[in-house]
Amino acid sequence: MKTMTGPTLVFQPYGKRLKATIGTKAIEAAKKIGIDISSVCGGRGLCGKCRIIIRDGQDHLSSPSGAEKRLLSKEDLNNGFRLACQATILSEGKMVIEVPRESQVDQQRLLLRGLERKIELAPAVKKVTVRLPKPTLQDVKSDTDRLTEALKSEAGFKPRVDYETLKVIPHALRKADWTVAVTLWKDQEIISVEPGPSQDLYGFAVDVGTTKLAGYLVDLNTGKIVATASMMNPQISYGEDVISRIQYVMDDEKNLTRLQETVIEGVNQLIAQACENSGVAPELICDVTLAGNTAMHHILLGIPPNFVAVMPYPAALQSAVDVKARDLSLKVNRGAYIHALPTIAGFVGGDAVADVLATKLYEAEELSMLVDIGTNTEIVLGNKLHLMACSCASGPAFEGAHIRYGMRAATGVIEH
Ligand code: FES
Repeated sequence: MKTMTGPTLVFQPYGKRLKATIGTKAIEAAKKIGIDISSVCGGRGLCGKCRIIIRDGQDHLSSPSGAEKRLLSKEDLNNGFRLACQATILSEGKMVIEVPRESQVDQQRLLLRGLERKIELAPAVKKVTVRLPKPTLQDVKSDTDRLTEALKSEAGFKPRVDYETLKVIPHALRKADWTVAVTLWKDQEIISVEPGPSQDLYGFAVDVGTTKLAGYLVDLNTGKIVATASMMNPQISYGEDVISRIQYVMDDEKNLTRLQETVIEGVNQLIAQACENSGVAPELICDVTLAGNTAMHHILLGIPPNFVAVMPYPAALQSAVDVKARDLSLKVNRGAYIHALPTIAGFVGGDAVADVLATKLYEAEELSMLVDIGTNTEIVLGNKLHLMACSCASGPAFEGAHIRYGMRAATGVIEH
């Protein structure tokens, strides 16, 4: 049977090529080889920000759509400009597509530095070394009971054991002659057991922004940030602002899984990058904390964000939640939990909660104001007695969604 292959696409200035499938949109083909093209409206033909220039092979594309005729001038069309979310590949051959500077996403400048406040360390996880007596004919307790009882006499409690950890206990105990390092979560659950004494314990904090993902690898014994990593939120090609992404989920139920998998893949890349830069093994990350606006928080957890966009904009979940990292396919210790910070409202999320915690606004004597300018901007006003919060979309105002001029912080932009 003959398969329907499309033309070879060459994307410039990257010099990347792929064999595309007929029926694919140019924006999807670019994404397949890791090229993100600006798509403020999420590919709905509204923003005109996904401009590409066809340098060769125009004939293999669909003719300009109504949206292209509306958003591109006649002169642009004559010069080979098309909208990547509209132009569909229709036949075989070779095409050369240029992504002009204004449509490139990967030159975004991301800020990761800031002032650090001294904090008292109180992680949800701790690691203890336990030395156990070997089983004998007079003492044939199970390996797991031997371990939990030893912890009871050492720490005064008998924790439950994570299912995945149950599977490693027998070998771990015997590998280092019945001495093991046990990681406890909130003094309630054994989430990891490894052979021999060890103190190494790390946490990973993730800021899930609409535009940016930032990750911080923290040594939980010292509180020091040992590595940072950041990248554009890869969901960006499905829409640049919160509303576009919610709209994308509303279009088709399956899109929620697509967005969730996309952002999780991004977070896994951050973890891998931070671990590689610091030489820390990902299995030593035994706690993960997530903060993000309500829509990003819901999507990452796989909770439908649909009603956040509909009057009166309720969140699906407001309280903090602990989920096993493996349930979300995060590549850290198998027993680790992810702690997602609580959200405040539909458009004031866990990132605002993190701001308040980081600045200790809740202890302020004076009336104080906190402003978090992001794709969505949150403002919190108050002091130790009362705090009020509100938010407004600021990305579109600065970055050019629904307006002709304006763009994100990229090389060449006035930024200070
Ligand atoms: Fe193509 Fe908005 S018009 S992404």
